[in-house]
Amino acid sequence: MSSSQSPVLSPRDPRELHLPGGYGRGTFYVGERSPRLVRGSGFRVVDEGGRELIDLNNNFTVLVHGHAHPHVTEAAVAAARDGACFGMPTAAELDHAEELVARVPWVEQVRYANSGTEAVMLAVRIARASTARNRIVMLSPAYHGTADPVLPAPGAVRGVPEGTLADVVTVAPGDVDAVHAAFDAFGDDIAAVLLDLAPALGGCVPLDEAFVRAVDDLARAHGAFVIVDEIISFRHAIAGYAHDGYGLAPDLLVVGKVIGGGFPIGAVLGTEKSMRLLDPALPDGLQHGGTFTANPVSMQAGKVALEFYDHGAVERLNGLGRFARHRLDEVARSFGWHVRGVGSVFRIAPAENDSAERRRALWWAAYDHGVLLSASGVVCLSTPMDERVIEDVADRLQAGFETMEDRS
Ligand SMILES: Cc1ncc(COP(=O)(O)O)c(C=O)c1O
Repeated sequence: MSSSQSPVLSPRDPRELHLPGGYGRGTFYVGERSPRLVRGSGFRVVDEGGRELIDLNNNFTVLVHGHAHPHVTEAAVAAARDGACFGMPTAAELDHAEELVARVPWVEQVRYANSGTEAVMLAVRIARASTARNRIVMLSPAYHGTADPVLPAPGAVRGVPEGTLADVVTVAPGDVDAVHAAFDAFGDDIAAVLLDLAPALGGCVPLDEAFVRAVDDLARAHGAFVIVDEIISFRHAIAGYAHDGYGLAPDLLVVGKVIGGGFPIGAVLGTEKSMRLLDPALPDGLQHGGTFTANPVSMQAGKVALEFYDHGAVERLNGLGRFARHRLDEVARSFGWHVRGVGSVFRIAPAENDSAERRRALWWAAYDHGVLLSASGVVCLSTPMDERVIEDVADRLQAGFETMEDRS
């Protein structure tokens, strides 16, 4: 890999006009134009111009084993060969659920979805139906997907009905007084508290333990559900971050990303009691479907990905994460940026005057030097990486920051 090339953009493809703004997914956005990728293997991806990059994006933390892991790929291909999806259950959902239940000691049942967003929606609906209440308390900033009830960030709410927003109470991470105030004001109508224990938008920094404990206690005292969104943080610990990091047994745990081996997935985990309303035999149960839910490709690839992400792999990746956070922070700091995070997930951002423009400038500078970031600055490691790869990333980021300074 050469260490510095100028950004390679393929000639503009007239078919880009078929996509709003030229993009098939809003979160791909890195500017008016973007390079396109053609393949990935391990920790590397290749773009249309033939440039190889070290992938720290990993499809926004999905690819814990990097790209095209041979056993995960084999499982997906074998599943597709036997029929990619059916309108009936397969043993693949039993196998996958068995793996998840075995990992998280307090969990008894799993219900699948096709994305983290869908799983969050389902968890919120379970809480609302179980408590016969409407309001949700959640942190801001925090990202829980793109469903209306969890989109309370300023600027993100166009098109969301006022009534939906009125049912969401947001509090700042760590603000115990605000949580008390929410329960004082609406305690008998709060269905659930929704927490991400290391919100990416909050800088991937773990929530204060005393705050989490206070929120958990208040929710329980008022009969509200505690829902923990582990769509990113599940990779931090074998039994999930709520259990291993905070000793919590929430009513519902929402997972996704790493549990699907690179294929669409989301899941709600809970006890038999908290998941009771999902029993389709119940006359007053919740309607839940999804044409592709629990499809054998996601189930089988996901199960193999989880098997390879065992205790040893989790510990090794977290150790590499500590090394990377320290090493990359050393580089970033001399340019007024910093690296913060937990486990194998971290955010590279300006220490002051953070802005989307500045992060995008780094995205392009890093790309120019063969490192793929995400425009939000939230990145992660994958199991094929080692310390040499991190040293290589550190050198490339150093060169990227220097290029940025030259350009400004
Ligand atoms: C914490 C968290 N919750 C929910 C979601 C939504 O998941 P998905 O993109 O699979 O819908 C994400 C996605 O990044 C996430 O990070």
